[in-house]
Amino acid sequence: DAAGKPVVSSQKTSEALFRAARLLNDKQTVAFPTETVYGLGADALDAAASSKIYAAKGRPPDNPLIVHVSSREMLQRLLPVSYAIPPIYEILIRHFWPGPLTLLFPTNPDVIPSLITANQPTVAIRMPSHPVARALIALADTAVAAPSANSSGRPSPTRAEHVFKDLNGKIALILDGGACDVGLESTVVDGLHEDGNIRVLRPGGVTVEGIEEALRAELVDSAAIPRVLVHRRDFRDEVMEQAPTTPGMKYRHYSPTVPVVLLKTSLPPSTIQPRTVQAFLDSIVKERSSGKRLSIGLMAPSDSPLLTKMTAYDGVQWVPHLLGRLSEPGISAQRLFDGLLTLDNAGVDLIVVEGLKEEKEGLAFMNRVNKAAGETVWIEDV
Ligand code: TXA
Ligand code: MG
Repeated sequence: DAAGKPVVSSQKTSEALFRAARLLNDKQTVAFPTETVYGLGADALDAAASSKIYAAKGRPPDNPLIVHVSSREMLQRLLPVSYAIPPIYEILIRHFWPGPLTLLFPTNPDVIPSLITANQPTVAIRMPSHPVARALIALADTAVAAPSANSSGRPSPTRAEHVFKDLNGKIALILDGGACDVGLESTVVDGLHEDGNIRVLRPGGVTVEGIEEALRAELVDSAAIPRVLVHRRDFRDEVMEQAPTTPGMKYRHYSPTVPVVLLKTSLPPSTIQPRTVQAFLDSIVKERSSGKRLSIGLMAPSDSPLLTKMTAYDGVQWVPHLLGRLSEPGISAQRLFDGLLTLDNAGVDLIVVEGLKEEKEGLAFMNRVNKAAGETVWIEDV
């Protein structure tokens, strides 16, 4: 169709799905689209199958995988026998499944190989909403372990061609479902803590504000509403709230091969003087000057006051990848990894990303950019 989304009922699509499901049953790896990013899937109940994921990605063995299910019954089969899902999780599942929310559950080691959980007492599970992902899991009739389908350390793929470029030759099949809607990974939530509070281990497609709203809507007794704990940074990059992050977050991550500079301002960008932007760009050019004109990928909201002040600088060749409007952090999130990978492939010398406010989807956006960037530059008028 016009949006480039596959029609699941078409002959060709169902053939591809059957083939992919058969490969999963044969303990091979298959890349497939989800609403967040492309996943690299293998049978979650089979250690040998899942070990192929670690091998293809070059993933450190202490970083556990997310297990994907297509139904409540499939979820229940993964959990300890007669385990009752906590009421808070029932609320989150009602509001956000299927969708970009991953929940930690106590694992059942009789069912889930320790390779998948990296020996944690918990297992991370989500039910994706993408029709191809759901159909594939249901057809394979097994839970599917799937990290993002990229080499460890690289940006997560949001198009089949990103997967192809990175992992071609290392995996059995790629299902092409067009561009991903959310564009960055699921929110990982631990709601198993004794204090009853909810810990966001990785911000993602479901926003903290969305979780808080769902809890307020369902829990009339405001004293019963748990706190949502999450790492946020203040304007000088101090982490403000304490919440443990997930094993995967300690690694350098999401980096294209070309250097990324994160641009932050502590003042409203509209008040930054053109000469200040000029000075910043002079320093960048001077630092990297090799005689030839620098080509710089520029990722910024289309209505950012900084954008025009940057592109007015004509000492470099600008390759813009716009991030939607300032009021649309969801579009910025959707376009982030796509931009990093596309600009990298276009052969720019450097990518400059303008920082966003850490609210709504901007929180996950900044979480990823902070890890992708080798350098953060503060630009401010003094
Ligand atoms: O949107 C997504 O979640 C994508 C798509 C494919 O579903 N998958 C994804 O997987 O992002 P991956 O492997 O790239 O990231 C999984 C994250 C890692 O940060 C990992 O450390 C964390 O989830 N994780 C997995 N199991 C965990 C556990 N038992 N406890 C804490 N963190 C866990
Ligand atoms: Mg990943």
